Amino acid sequence: MQIKKLSLENFRNYEKEEFSFSPGLNILFGKNAQGKTNCAEAVFYLCTGSSLRIRHDRQLIRAGAPRARIAAVAENRYGEVSIEAEIGENSREIRVNGNKIAKNAELLGNINSVFFSPGELRLIQDGPDERRRFLNLSLSQLSRSYYTALLRYNRIVEQRNALLKDRDVSLVLETLPLWDEQLCLYAARVVAARMEFTARLAPLAVETHAFLTDGAERLSLGMDKVYEGDEEEIAAQLRREMQGAYERDLRLGFTGVGPHRDDLKISIGGMDAKGYASQGQARTAALALKLAELEIFKERAGEYPVLILDDVMSELDLPRRKKLVSRLQGVQTIITCTHAERVLYGKDCNKIRIAGGKIIR
Ligand SMILES: Nc1ncnc2c1ncn2[C@@H]1O[C@H](COP(=O)(O)OP(=O)(O)O)[C@@H](O)[C@H]1O
Ligand SMILES: [Mg+2]
Repeated sequence: MQIKKLSLENFRNYEKEEFSFSPGLNILFGKNAQGKTNCAEAVFYLCTGSSLRIRHDRQLIRAGAPRARIAAVAENRYGEVSIEAEIGENSREIRVNGNKIAKNAELLGNINSVFFSPGELRLIQDGPDERRRFLNLSLSQLSRSYYTALLRYNRIVEQRNALLKDRDVSLVLETLPLWDEQLCLYAARVVAARMEFTARLAPLAVETHAFLTDGAERLSLGMDKVYEGDEEEIAAQLRREMQGAYERDLRLGFTGVGPHRDDLKISIGGMDAKGYASQGQARTAALALKLAELEIFKERAGEYPVLILDDVMSELDLPRRKKLVSRLQGVQTIITCTHAERVLYGKDCNKIRIAGGKIIR
């Protein structure tokens, strides 16, 4: 997959600009606060329909402008695809090949992307939310049915949590089994997909991590919760566990069992990474996970996604930077950094200098 052209209108600090990307390495460089990350964010938005940085789309609109527009021409293995997003104060419209889409699910999979920024250290060091987000983001791009199951699951959990706070306990106890029937079907789809994904992710990440550290430390990972069997059996297991947890759920007022509580456990050298990994260890482990993710996309979708490396180069030492770059053959990569080092990227990469929301030509 590759993005050939990206145009931004009233997006963040861009008034109007058009980028041409090459199929290999693209380096967006310039001083701080000039619009490098904004450009990377626009690419990610067209891939996923969301931004990693914000909750409200309106922050994407250039201050003082009524709406923002992002458009790209890309190519995936089925041919050329154009994607366009118009973002207004309270609404947005996304078109794929000129057709307005009704649901975000229809956007996913057109252009896949893997995003890596220094913030991704949270993946290793923080609580389970970040790791579930990682799984959800990957799997949603790879499978619309995962995305849809996840949305429905989350909606039912929310409603179930509201129900658990109802004072009419006998009514709640009567209603819960009905809810849980549906809930467990979606939950099982989510769980099964995650299991399959992590079963492949783990060996890839371990291998990549050994490559990055010259085998000095061993990474290991897997889901913390054990589920047995196929989707149907997983649903049955969840139903039993949910029933067993009615009393506790009622007492606490929220749903304590299910994939919204599961975690991807990561350990480095036998120690739980969360709470123990140093900055350097976390950085390398996060990078290994992202590179493994890249390979899974290649296997599942049949081609590499667009890789966005936002500000990560400066954080890695030279040997790791070189190792990273050596892995990017055949991957369209958009790198943001303050200095485009020639030693690292060679002279063939596409360098784009950015200042004040403009390309300096
Ligand atoms: N909605 C917006 N309207 C105008 N400017 C914005 C908007 N959102 C962000 N900016 C500006 O964009 C700049 C940051 O750009 P960014 O791409 O994060 O910088 P960097 O080049 O360091 O990656 C800041 O100066 C910020 O004020
Ligand atoms: Mg930046």
